[in-house]
Amino acid sequence: MIKKGIILAGGQGTRMSPLTKAVNKQLLPVYDKPLIFYPLSILMLAKIRDILIIVNKGQLDQYKKILPNGNNLGIKITYKEQDKPRGLPDAFILGEKFIGKSNVAMILGDNFFYGQNLSSKLMQNTKLKNGAKIVLHKVQKPEAFGVAKIKSNNKIISIKEKPKKFFSDLAITGLYFFDNKVVNYAKRLKPSKRNELEIVDLLNIYRKKNKLTADLIGRGGAWLDTGSIEDFYKTSAFVSAIENRQGLKIACLEEIAFNSGWINKKQINNAVNFYGNCDYSKYLKRLLKIHK
Ligand code: TTP
Repeated sequence: MIKKGIILAGGQGTRMSPLTKAVNKQLLPVYDKPLIFYPLSILMLAKIRDILIIVNKGQLDQYKKILPNGNNLGIKITYKEQDKPRGLPDAFILGEKFIGKSNVAMILGDNFFYGQNLSSKLMQNTKLKNGAKIVLHKVQKPEAFGVAKIKSNNKIISIKEKPKKFFSDLAITGLYFFDNKVVNYAKRLKPSKRNELEIVDLLNIYRKKNKLTADLIGRGGAWLDTGSIEDFYKTSAFVSAIENRQGLKIACLEEIAFNSGWINKKQINNAVNFYGNCDYSKYLKRLLKIHK
């Protein structure tokens, strides 16, 4: 079972400027909560409780205000600063000590997932022992993403970054599961022309060894990557529509922790006091009532 997870939550957020000049993208709101809650909820749903959040140098204090050390959620959160965006595989170099001898999951701080059976699908992926597994989702404009071609057994045959000619419509999302070799492989990578370590290069090492497989999010699931301002508003609208229709929140961290038996009612009460008089707290109070 993979028990450790990394959230890569740095980056310049250039496409979202001027919003990201003073505040990191992952702390901006997606409807009623900061973006970082969503990827964190995904790791928690996968029952991963030991989490490293990588943030930009100088932004640690902002994060700690909203996500201190995880005690309030029955998980463990540690932080590591990245001095500049060296690329996604840098997560495994910065995270070497955290990872130790374990296998590890990694999620990008700006990725949003939603769908039926998500939790059991995620837990299935944490069973990975050898190799790497990536999560794919069908998209309408594959030319805007890294895309993968698969065989019938979900083995990945090839990967291309933003292909101009149609190649596959399965986009590589920002959720990955790796065996422990990822640390050494990441260290071996050379920066690309844009002077970053590339996730595609890392995945290709596994692919060439025939050790890269895919998990597909089907029609019932949604994956949104909130890189642009337009994406942010679309994701907010999506969350608002679901939450207001069902009366259930997406990525309510205390609810996930409570349902998993990691925290009790007292900690939910503490959360209500911490957040203050807001809809999120009202939702938590309702949870307490239901479980009277
Ligand atoms: P990107 O979307 O590639 O970069 P960005 O968020 O800085 O945005 P922009 O392209 O508008 O400048 O990054 C994807 C996610 O990974 C995002 O959540 C930021 C994070 N990230 C890091 O934390 N460190 C890095 O070195 C890189 C490249 C990204």
